[in-house]
Amino acid sequence: MSPGALPGFRDFYPTELAERSYIFRGWRDVARRYGFVEYDGPPLEPLDLYTKKSGAEIVDQLYNFRDKGDREIALRPEMTPTLARMVAARANSMRKPVRWFSIPQLFRYERQQRGRLREHFQLNMDIIGEADVSADAELLAAAIDVMSVFELSSEDVVARVSDRRLLNALLRGIGITEPQMAAAYAALDKLDRDPREVLEHRLAAAGVGASVSAQLFELAGATADEAAFTHIVDAAGATAEWDDLRRYLDHTESLGVREWVKLDLSIVRGLAYYTGIVFELFDAKGELRAICGGGRYDTLLESLGGVSLPALGFGMGDVVLGELLKSRGRMPVAEAMVDVWVAYGDAGSVEDAMRVAARLRARGRSVEYALGNQKLARQLKAAHTARARETVVIATPELSAGEAMVRKLDEKGERKVQLEAWLEET
Ligand code: HAM
Repeated sequence: MSPGALPGFRDFYPTELAERSYIFRGWRDVARRYGFVEYDGPPLEPLDLYTKKSGAEIVDQLYNFRDKGDREIALRPEMTPTLARMVAARANSMRKPVRWFSIPQLFRYERQQRGRLREHFQLNMDIIGEADVSADAELLAAAIDVMSVFELSSEDVVARVSDRRLLNALLRGIGITEPQMAAAYAALDKLDRDPREVLEHRLAAAGVGASVSAQLFELAGATADEAAFTHIVDAAGATAEWDDLRRYLDHTESLGVREWVKLDLSIVRGLAYYTGIVFELFDAKGELRAICGGGRYDTLLESLGGVSLPALGFGMGDVVLGELLKSRGRMPVAEAMVDVWVAYGDAGSVEDAMRVAARLRARGRSVEYALGNQKLARQLKAAHTARARETVVIATPELSAGEAMVRKLDEKGERKVQLEAWLEET
């Protein structure tokens, strides 16, 4: 039996690595267009960085252990606590708002399922030091622009947005008490995945009566009719929160992404630290897990680093995005090609090929030749398999001194050249 990778971990053969690089390039491109700069942090962190604020779900999934110095540590399951710690430590000397991005590899001991592995890469874009909803809109537009960069449209992807402040006010309005709030959030979060009876049962166990439960489920769908919804908002005294959210939606219009966005109060996010507007991107057919998720976490820097700064951001994984791109035929087939293959005939040897290769490489070309002394026919076959853009053949008995034959990929015929002149222009 040959040893495989651990369950939920991936081997990146060159084809898979090319796909990953394609995704990273798109991510970096959008981050740059929005004026974000790149940072990174350590893959191992003190365990309590996560146990303090991230919430039970992610803490259950930690890869944690005691190191040789008897410290309780964990592989990072997400980037946000590291970012909060790093920014809080130097907050005074930084230009605000901070606009940072990173592409960390993250580790979560998850139950294996489609789109969820035990390691993944995640684009993180965060803004720190801006309380206005224009920052929320900016980030949502960035996440959506990533979709556009990969040639996905609003027919492929939907952004579902909500606001925890608004939701809190509405939940209080229908009679959910503070101790019941976590159960109400959990029920909304699982609305798509678990049967209604199961959710009702859990709510009842948290002390939520049947009529309040019914109102809770109604609330999740109440945004469809804006006039009726405004009425509910007024009744709950949540006008200020609703105004903020509407302003945010208006900004998404100006940023050109409004058609992707849908208000959806069942988006509450699994992580505990969110305090305001939250969002997730999903494939429009609803076949896959979330592509991306994020929101505002205005109190995390204070609780992790003692610095009070508003903050918001999102994380977008490479796994679901990769699946989506493949299923929509948007993942280019990567072809690793060399520029030039150098082959030699019976009148020469591998040394001649080496000298030509060295000259071309010094000029920045990617060059291969057959290692070891091989017959010309075999070398040409290898050049063909490698799909070299050009093959140059030197030192055959038919060629005079200083001459070479050049053949281009996918072109019939070959031409005789003066090797020196050709090297200068290649
Ligand atoms: P999250 O919702 O836990 O948020 O993860 C964000 C995205 O990472 C998900 O939507 C998904 O694409 C991907 N992801 C998460 N877990 C896995 C997994 N096990 N396998 C594959 N992909 C996965 C956060 O992590 C927040 N820290 C994001 C954030 C940044 N919030 C503010 N700033």
